[in-house]
Amino acid sequence: MTSLTQTTIDSPADNPDVLAARRRTNRIGKLHHHAFMARDLEETRHFYEDLLGLPLVGTWVERVNPTTNQPDNYAHAFFELSDGSCLAFFQFKDLEASLGHSVNKFTPISPFGHHIALTVEGKDTVQDFKSKLDAEGVETFLTDHGYCYSVYFYDPNGLQVELTTLVEPTTEMMRAAATNAHTVMERWRAEDEVESNNTRRGTGWMKS
Ligand SMILES: [Fe+2]
Repeated sequence: MTSLTQTTIDSPADNPDVLAARRRTNRIGKLHHHAFMARDLEETRHFYEDLLGLPLVGTWVERVNPTTNQPDNYAHAFFELSDGSCLAFFQFKDLEASLGHSVNKFTPISPFGHHIALTVEGKDTVQDFKSKLDAEGVETFLTDHGYCYSVYFYDPNGLQVELTTLVEPTTEMMRAAATNAHTVMERWRAEDEVESNNTRRGTGWMKS
């Protein structure tokens, strides 16, 4: 197994001005919305609004399907995150149509296949959401990624949601990672055995 040379953080990416400049030149901004199929919008509303605290800020009823230009009947509901971006969910009047459009057929998705990670502030907040979800009978798993700390769970539609907080080493780790991200990718693609460069990785998928 070959090792990846540890990059020092004494690099341009360590400079906040460089970091700000890198982001300023990016013409694509924050997430607008992430869309997924809902089996039932009220069940989904209860989960996101009542349990996770994301307000329902819009429900659009659509009677024409833009992909076919044919009459249809579906609704699109938006739940707002603290930065104004949204998690959005579609439901068709016809359950079979909803099922047909659902990528996971409303069954739990592998976290490798698809998940959405949302930011919270601090491990206490991660733990607080875990306790709330546990009390509702929602199965939760904690994972210490090293560069962030997360709780994972499934919503009623089988979408895996991750709530994650930045941790003390996050800034240093991400700045260092930015200095050699292309090299690491090339090395990993070219070689069969490259050792992990995540030096702070902790335990994964803990039930508590
Ligand atoms: Fe993730």
